[in-house]
Amino acid sequence: MASPSINSSEEINWDEIGFGIIPTDTMCLMKCSTEEADTFSEATLVPYGNLHLLPSAGILNHGQGVIEGLKAYRTKDGHILLFRPEENGTRLKIGAERMCMPSPSVEQFVDAVKQTVLANKRWVPPVGKGSLYIRPLLMGTGSVLGIAPAPECTLLIYVTPVKTYHTGPLNLVIKDKLYRAICGSGGTGGVKSVVNYSPAYKALKEARAEGFSDILYLDAATGKFIEELSSCNIFLVKGKAISTPTAGGNILPGITRKSIIEIAIDLGYKVTERAVAVDELMEADEVFCTGTAVGVNPVASITHNNIRAEYKTGAEAVSQKLLQTLVGIQTGHIQDTRGWTLQI
Ligand code: COI
Repeated sequence: MASPSINSSEEINWDEIGFGIIPTDTMCLMKCSTEEADTFSEATLVPYGNLHLLPSAGILNHGQGVIEGLKAYRTKDGHILLFRPEENGTRLKIGAERMCMPSPSVEQFVDAVKQTVLANKRWVPPVGKGSLYIRPLLMGTGSVLGIAPAPECTLLIYVTPVKTYHTGPLNLVIKDKLYRAICGSGGTGGVKSVVNYSPAYKALKEARAEGFSDILYLDAATGKFIEELSSCNIFLVKGKAISTPTAGGNILPGITRKSIIEIAIDLGYKVTERAVAVDELMEADEVFCTGTAVGVNPVASITHNNIRAEYKTGAEAVSQKLLQTLVGIQTGHIQDTRGWTLQI
């Protein structure tokens, strides 16, 4: 969705924001030279704006980078809550290791996120009007020509106010022979490498031209099992049983995914993480997807080989109950008994 052109939070019509970039006040930078000790500098807050990069920076030439995504929420009494930021710090470390980069400690990461959000607190939407999306990007900023890790890495954190990624139930399509990420257990599908996202553009462009919302990708090795969408994980509901493809390998261990599994178990569902065959889509009562950007989004239909399966959506759907519980915890409406939120 195109973002309204907004220059100051005083002028924001919060009802007009979608999922796009609205420039905010401040971004955060932390640098690390891999030729010296692999330790990151203190977080430096600078005005949001252009970066100075050499043409030979690793991120520009070879895509040496990992992203994270998390959100800050406004509570009804005006406080700001982060949702499970230490999980993002831990996942960033795993992604960094796969992409041959050093990473800040989880504590340094969470502190940098806090500082960035507090410096932009006027951009955290009022309760019910969205959230502040936080995008950490760890990248090789040092100069390289050959295939080698950059000698300097930078963690950049910027923020923008958003509503959810999608605005209604999704109509998905499965396209044979187009895969989401570099596949297989040795690939990067299971980490948030920047190189996992642009390969989805072609399939997504085709799908949108055909009237679909997104793609549901299958495993490249056999084409028999479902993996995830371009930007989120997937769940199937059949009676009181909920299944989701096992994370790791090619499937991103989503933090919303992990949270929804716990919430669903608490609500009395039996949740299984396993290989989910594409044929099972025909039998499911409900399908939904999860992610930081998408939240919990119902799927209305999935089309595969020109056969369209339709699913329950709406107020009575399981996905709706899960979403309400998750958002309730994230915004402080429901008591957080698990220590998932961090007030800043
Ligand atoms: C997220 O859900 O935070 C993502 O990173 C997905 C996408 C917007 C790239």
